[in-house]
Amino acid sequence: MSFLIPNRGAVGGTRIPLSIIVLVLCGFMFFALLYTERISLMSSSSSNFLRSKSCPRKNISSKPKEKVREERSEKMDVLDDRFEFDPEECNVAAGKWVYNSSAEPLYTDESCPYIDRQFSCMKNGRPETDYLRWEWQPDDCTIPRFNPKLAMNKLRGKRLLFVGDSLQRSQWESFVCLVESIIPEGEKSMKRSKKYFVFKAKEYNASIEFYWAPFIVESNTDLPVILDMKKRVVKVDSVEDRSKYWEGADILVFNTYVWWMSGLRMKALWGSFGNGESGAEALDTPVAYRLGLKTWANWVDSTVDSNKTKVFFTTMSPTHTRSADWGKPNGTKCFNETEPVKDKRFWGTGSNKQMMKVVSSVVKHMATHVTVINITQLSEYRIDAHTSVYTETGGKMLTAEQRADPMRNADCIHWCLPGLPDTWNRILLAHL
Ligand SMILES: *[C@@H]1O[C@H](CO)[C@@H](O)[C@H](O)[C@H]1NC(C)=O
Ligand SMILES: *[C@@H]1O[C@H](CO)[C@@H](O)[C@H](O)[C@H]1NC(C)=O
Ligand SMILES: *[C@@H]1O[C@H](CO)[C@@H](O)[C@H](O)[C@H]1NC(C)=O
Ligand SMILES: *[C@@H]1O[C@H](CO)[C@@H](O)[C@H](O)[C@H]1NC(C)=O
Ligand SMILES: *[C@@H]1O[C@H](CO)[C@@H](O)[C@H](O)[C@H]1NC(C)=O
Ligand SMILES: *[C@@H]1O[C@H](CO)[C@@H](O)[C@H](O)[C@H]1NC(C)=O
Ligand SMILES: *[C@@H]1O[C@H](CO)[C@@H](O)[C@H](O)[C@H]1NC(C)=O
Repeated sequence: MSFLIPNRGAVGGTRIPLSIIVLVLCGFMFFALLYTERISLMSSSSSNFLRSKSCPRKNISSKPKEKVREERSEKMDVLDDRFEFDPEECNVAAGKWVYNSSAEPLYTDESCPYIDRQFSCMKNGRPETDYLRWEWQPDDCTIPRFNPKLAMNKLRGKRLLFVGDSLQRSQWESFVCLVESIIPEGEKSMKRSKKYFVFKAKEYNASIEFYWAPFIVESNTDLPVILDMKKRVVKVDSVEDRSKYWEGADILVFNTYVWWMSGLRMKALWGSFGNGESGAEALDTPVAYRLGLKTWANWVDSTVDSNKTKVFFTTMSPTHTRSADWGKPNGTKCFNETEPVKDKRFWGTGSNKQMMKVVSSVVKHMATHVTVINITQLSEYRIDAHTSVYTETGGKMLTAEQRADPMRNADCIHWCLPGLPDTWNRILLAHL
């Protein structure tokens, strides 16, 4: 894997703090996994997982809580489209994971035909299922259960488009799987090309789409992925080759983070690729990230009709490649973890706060209102929810031998489906 390590010149510094070295090493791990990224989809009904409660209003009434809850869930049953989730009053990011032994996901990796083998942990042999039964409980409020009929009614006549990396792809797959069982055979279709996937529900005249753009902006390494990090160049000022596919979407959900974290610096290019890599400049990663996000922000502000389109940005999905973060210096990354971290203040070294600040600052200065779906803290706790060794690499299932070496082969970046991305979508739906 030495080819993944940039030369010292590229790193540039003389004294590099240990934490940064760890971060960089984690970065290499990402890429070892990320380059195996497969864009194709594999193939496979339903049950119930998400709790039905809503954000309490200031003081709707003096009725006891239980009663209010009952009324709410009745409303959900008759598909009250007027249901309003109030993000002002509910910080969904602060809370805890609660184990519910009777919780069942709305789908399985057998029932939903659209789950990549990369994410289908049960099918791939994950032996325990506790990770499916943790439910996110915000401190101040409750989030409504994901109701597939309600979701499809909200999407009627609309295009929901997810844009981003493989984590975003898993959120898209989760969304499709959460709703697809209520759509009869023959009323739904899936079209796949290299970068662009479209799930359509005819009866609803709705589509749920994914566009592969791991940096959002252009790069020379989206497809095919370039293994040699020194040759990777991000064209921080360009989105045109892809943004044409995003125009006209009614709901846009973006993410980008982990691909930027390959090292302390990122090669960036302005102007034409025609100048070749010689024109590229190595920028500190947060600087390159800001330029890329600014380009995205300009596109949104100049193109998106905010009266018609809702725009979301999903924050970084945490990686768990360093078990010392959660007090297990002798652990093996996220391998063999079966419970979330309980410490509320937990924040791992895979989530870079400086990068997070870039997101806040770019979004704050936009003309268009962008809703940030802050999944980072709640996902931080879920060291148990990664695909770990129940996944594939380079299009092939891990062999028994590879599984026996989790330090090298466990994937602690991506998440099992069903699993954590279902909670992200529960929060997204609450905002729609
Ligand atoms: C909410 O209701 C409680 C009990 O009915 C009352 O004590 C409290 O003052 C009310 N708060 C507001 C903000 O109206
Ligand atoms: C546990 O999950 C079941 C099934 O979804 C649900 O009916 C029940 O309310 C949940 N229990 C708690 C305490 O949330
Ligand atoms: C279906 O939705 C599209 C927008 O996504 C709209 O342009 C079109 O008119 C709709 N068709 C019908 C039959 O409602
Ligand atoms: C959005 O709607 C408001 C009020 O209806 C209107 O004043 C404004 O011009 C609209 N903006 C655009 C970009 O159409
Ligand atoms: C980790 O392993 C080392 C050497 O095997 C041992 O000395 C140490 O006590 C272990 N630490 C923990 C927290 O288990
Ligand atoms: C995984 O965890 C189980 C129980 O906690 C333990 O018995 C087993 O040795 C662990 N496996 C590895 C490879 O650490
Ligand atoms: C997301 O939540 C974390 C922890 O609660 C916070 O530190 C961070 O600033 C938030 N990010 C954004 C973009 O709001």
